[in-house]
Amino acid sequence: MFQYIYIFFFIPLLPLETSSYLPAPKNVEVYSYNFQSLLRWSPVPVENGSVVYTAHYKTGFYGAWSGMGCAQTPRTWCPFPPELRRRRWTILLRLRAERGALASPWVLTPPFVAETNTTLGPPRVNNVSARPDSLLVGVSPPFTPEPGDLLQYLVSYWENSSSPTEKKLSESKTRFEIGNLKESTLYCFSIQVQLKIYSGHLLEGQQSAPECHRTALSEATRAWYIIFLFSVGFVALNLVVAASLFLWKYHQKIKYWAQPPLEIPSHFREFLRDPDVAGLEELYSPAEEEPQALVLGGEGGQEGEDPSPNTSRARAASEGPPQ
Ligand SMILES: *[C@@H]1O[C@H](CO)[C@@H](O)[C@H](O)[C@H]1NC(C)=O
Ligand SMILES: *[C@@H]1O[C@H](CO)[C@@H](O)[C@H](O)[C@H]1NC(C)=O
Ligand SMILES: *[C@@H]1O[C@H](CO)[C@@H](O)[C@H](O)[C@H]1NC(C)=O
Ligand SMILES: *[C@@H]1O[C@H](CO)[C@@H](O)[C@H](O)[C@H]1NC(C)=O
Repeated sequence: MFQYIYIFFFIPLLPLETSSYLPAPKNVEVYSYNFQSLLRWSPVPVENGSVVYTAHYKTGFYGAWSGMGCAQTPRTWCPFPPELRRRRWTILLRLRAERGALASPWVLTPPFVAETNTTLGPPRVNNVSARPDSLLVGVSPPFTPEPGDLLQYLVSYWENSSSPTEKKLSESKTRFEIGNLKESTLYCFSIQVQLKIYSGHLLEGQQSAPECHRTALSEATRAWYIIFLFSVGFVALNLVVAASLFLWKYHQKIKYWAQPPLEIPSHFREFLRDPDVAGLEELYSPAEEEPQALVLGGEGGQEGEDPSPNTSRARAASEGPPQ
């Protein structure tokens, strides 16, 4: 706070002093995910040259500042050294920018306690096996638990229907069952971890992405299904056999019934032939008819003179259908 006031009041008054002043880094924060922590900040902007940073830590027990392994680092982040990976310790951090002989004022972070300040990620869902009335879920925690950790898995699950009602369940094992489910139904679930911390409070983790699985078909339903399919198949087979027997037994009659439509064309043909011949007669020119009569001579005299419909019908009958 006071550093900023200093900048605002003294820079305009003492412009020559600006080069000898280095502003403190901004946005200094502890980023902690699944108990992996680091200090990070925004770089200090300068016209040229490089700025380096130095970070220190102090625990609640010990009053002196110690180096974090990040002395005059050009990076804008500093991971916590192994000795700071204590979940319950209260840790204070300070950071400053340095440039040559110049150093910025220290920036202090609020007290950090991993157990309360870290963000726990979602648990990992390893495998899900579907049963007719339950889903068997295997999970692993988002971080490596320490001995004595009281870790709970809070499971929210719902049937994937138009009006889903969420149910909750708390499990302490990494392999558990979501029970009392309907068979062959799609259910979705999302899991988060809850870590019981020293204060007795619960540190809640992030929700896992919803996962949907269909419960299995029960043996009874499956048996009924198989019986049903078998019955349908059996009935269908019987129908086919009956139809085949019927066809075999009455094939003569069926042939007889099928006959008339086959004969119809020949009848038609006879009916059709008359106008056909009549048409041809009309088309015959006398010039063409005369040589025919001459070639045939006396024996075919009658035919040549009289190509009557009766003779052509008789011829058609003797020939039968051309096919
Ligand atoms: C920055 O640049 C100025 C000239 O632009 C130069 O005089 C000065 O030495 C430079 N500082 C650094 C730290 O390089
Ligand atoms: C840790 O959490 C407390 C309580 O929420 C908060 O006041 C504090 O600023 C946090 N510490 C850090 C370093 O973010
Ligand atoms: C589920 O995963 C765990 C660990 O990965 C394994 O031990 C277990 O056999 C798996 N179960 C099934 C049913 O695949
Ligand atoms: C769940 O149901 C909704 C509609 O109720 C549907 O849009 C969605 O695809 C379903 N999810 C799955 C995984 O089938």
